[in-house]
Amino acid sequence: MKFSTAYQDNPHAAEFYDYIVPYRERQDVDFFVDLARESGGPVLEVGSGTGRVLIPTARAGLTITGLDVSEAMLGICRRRLAEEAEDVRARVTLVHADMRDFDLGQQFALVTTPFRSFQHVITVEEQLACLAAIRRHLVDGGQFVLDLFNPSLPYLVDESRMGEFGEEPEFTMPDGRRVLRRARILKRDLLQQVQDVEMIYDVTHPDGRKERVTHEFSMRYLFRFEAEHLLARAGFAVEAVYADYDKSPYGSKYPGELIFLARKV
Ligand SMILES: C[S@@+](CC[C@H](N)C(=O)[O-])C[C@H]1O[C@@H](n2cnc3c(N)ncnc32)[C@H](O)[C@@H]1O
Repeated sequence: MKFSTAYQDNPHAAEFYDYIVPYRERQDVDFFVDLARESGGPVLEVGSGTGRVLIPTARAGLTITGLDVSEAMLGICRRRLAEEAEDVRARVTLVHADMRDFDLGQQFALVTTPFRSFQHVITVEEQLACLAAIRRHLVDGGQFVLDLFNPSLPYLVDESRMGEFGEEPEFTMPDGRRVLRRARILKRDLLQQVQDVEMIYDVTHPDGRKERVTHEFSMRYLFRFEAEHLLARAGFAVEAVYADYDKSPYGSKYPGELIFLARKV
């Protein structure tokens, strides 16, 4: 199976990831760490990236495996782990694999997909392959957390998003580069529910030189009942649907998130 995500090829996406202000400020880490604690572990994080959630989970005393298709993201995670205490490092295993087809030869009490990593899986066939792989890696009665964004109908048809948008604060890299990130929808397929997104990084080097680098990827959006049916089809029972990481119920805000707690049946 070929890797479809653009993450593994894009060094900029990986090097800037931990500095992007809305990513730094995401309020989801405690939610995933608490679920990991409740499960008792071991935990598998699918699409574990730079370790934003994985490292706090290991610090909390849980054994966790992080799986990611991007060597660049895994490389940053390894570098971050090298600065952790020996016992934290000992609780972490990193695996370079594609979430649509993997076999770790181990089962977990909890599998998570923080920050929409499952939305990089584009077709229904691939979604089912991914969910089947996740299910095989769960112990009987194990828990699965599917973390998606709730598609906003106004955003999906907002023409202004075909041009550059985004009002994020600029961030500064340790070497002094200043980076302003914006985004643009390159292509919309309303029938396949796929958007091709371009992340645009306008970089100002310490000597004043300006550079623009971009990162393109496709994202599939899923609606609430579609995702519920997909989970049922893949052998999971949905136990809760949240609109946010504070566990507010789905529908309490719009668009909010679309977070499923499901159990292997
Ligand atoms: C938005 S990041 C989320 C990273 C991390 N879970 C977090 O919460 O910060 C999505 C991650 O999914 C990974 N990813 C995308 N497609 C993948 C695939 N087919 N298999 C495994 N990982 C994939 C990317 O490389 C990236 O690290």
